[in-house]
This record gives sequence, structure tokens and C-alpha cells, in this order.
Amino acid sequence: MRHLLSIEETPKEKIEEILSTAKGFLEISRRPIKKVPVLRGKTVVNLFFEPSTRTRSSFEIAAKRLSADVMNFSASVSSVRKGESLKDTVLNLEAMKTDLIVIRHPSPGAARFLTTFCRSAVINAGDGAHEHPTQALLDALTVLEHKGRLDGMKVVIVGDILHSRVARSDLFLFHKMGSSVVLSGPPTLLPPYFKALPAEVEYDLDRAVDGADVVIMLRLQMERMKGGFLPSLREYRARYQLTGERLSRMKPDGIVMHPGPINRGIELSHEVADSPRSVILDQVEKGVAVRMAVLSLLLGGEA
Ligand code: NCD
Repeated sequence: MRHLLSIEETPKEKIEEILSTAKGFLEISRRPIKKVPVLRGKTVVNLFFEPSTRTRSSFEIAAKRLSADVMNFSASVSSVRKGESLKDTVLNLEAMKTDLIVIRHPSPGAARFLTTFCRSAVINAGDGAHEHPTQALLDALTVLEHKGRLDGMKVVIVGDILHSRVARSDLFLFHKMGSSVVLSGPPTLLPPYFKALPAEVEYDLDRAVDGADVVIMLRLQMERMKGGFLPSLREYRARYQLTGERLSRMKPDGIVMHPGPINRGIELSHEVADSPRSVILDQVEKGVAVRMAVLSLLLGGEA
């Protein structure tokens, strides 16, 4: 594995290898001294062209716990503002002898574009509405920790599927690992062509969550919406908010996940956001271990 660009093209065996490596790394973050020398002397660049809280800090912490040197690059305060292209930006950073570039970019395919000319390993940390592979991997690790398995699980993904790279990566991952995936959301945000993907489409949320082991709630990505996708927020809430009542339709031990950032009172009621069935902060913990695993596998350090 040279790069991690998408889950769609990552074989099941690779996913299993990353998840089992990540399980081992979970323990390091729980130690009093949270550092191992696996990537000593390596340089990782976090290249972010879109806002991020969790993904960026998680990659930074993961790289530092492996003893790599990390440089955080934020497009909004760089020469990108002066008109420098993505390719020139990356070539200049690479001239400083970087080993791995983590990129988040609004254009689908941006991470793959980097691999056509750069020497460093590349990790896609979200490319437009295309994919966000490490998010799907950390979601899988969270389900594994709570459920012990991925096969045979009913996983429901709810909300703004159209604009969600997380939905796409999750769908491919859970399907590959033998879960059955159900997509739910308003038809404007879940067009019928999604039925071509290996998932069931159920527009009625009450029916979708029935007997679910895992429900993954998504944020409405207003910043990617050009036009009227929703009649009103009030109607969206009524039909697609995960409420306590809808939670009770899941399996009694079913869990609620969300990639963040959450918008309380929109996709999740306050009651559900704070319920013990919500494992949203567990996902964040797993994110560090998954990113340590991917960084070490790509840079060839000893796990
Ligand atoms: C998501 C993203 O940016 O794709 N967040 C994340 O990385 N954890 C989802 C979102 O922005 O709603």
C-alpha cells in the first residue's frame, strides 16, 4: 500500500490489516507516556484546504505519538490566497523532503491528483463529496469494539447522503465487511441513483432504524448545497431527526454514531446526543489509533 485514497478500492484484507494494527495502537494512547519511536525522522504534512477539527488534530496527534515531525498547513493563511496552484504548493512542500501528505480538499479526486506527481505517500482526509477513508476505518473500529464484529450488522446511514464523503466511505466499508447497509434521508439528499450502490434505500426513517445495530447520523452540509434541497429545517427535523422515540426502535444495544461536527437539535435531539447509546466520543478516540495504523503501514515503520 503506497497511498490511502478511497475505501472503494481498498481490498477487504487491507482493511482488516489496518483495523488489527489500530487495535494494537489503541493501548498506546491510554498509557501515561503516549509515544513510540515507530516514525522517528519521518516528516508528515497536514495539508488542509477545508475546515476541520477532529480529522486534522487526530492526524497531528497520531503522527506525534509515532514520533514523526508534523507540519500543519492551512490553505487560508498560505500563498494559495495569492493564487499558487495545488500542484506548485505541493511541489514546494515536497522540496523540503516530506514523507507523507495528508490532504483535505473540496474537489473530488484531489488526493489522487497528488499521486500523479508527488514522491510522498498520500492519505485522503476528505475530497469533496467523494470519500473520507480514515473516517470509515475509525467507524468500523468503533463498531468492532462495541459489537465484536462487522459481519451481519444492520448499519443505517441517515441524512445528507448526497454531500457526504463519510456516507460513501462507510457504505463501501461496511458492505465489504459483510454488514447490511441502509441509507435514509429526504429524496433531494438521497436521489434514487443511490440504489445502484450496494445498499438499501429507505426514505422512512422509522422503518429504516427498525432493528438497527448501528445508526450513523450525518450533518446537513449547507456549505455544499447550492439551491433548495429542503422545504424547511422544521420539516427535516420532524422526518429525519434521531429522537428518543426513534432510538427505541433500534436493537436494545444498538449504538448511535456521528462523524462530527454535530448540530444538536437538528439531526440529533439533545437527549440522543447525550445518551449512553451515543458513542460519538469513542469514535474520536478510535480515530487516533486508526490514523497511527495507517501512517505506520504507509511509512513502513515497525508496528
Ligand atoms: C466530516 C467531514 O468533514 O467529512 N467530518 C469529519 O471529518 N469527521 C463530516 C462533516 O463535515 O459533516
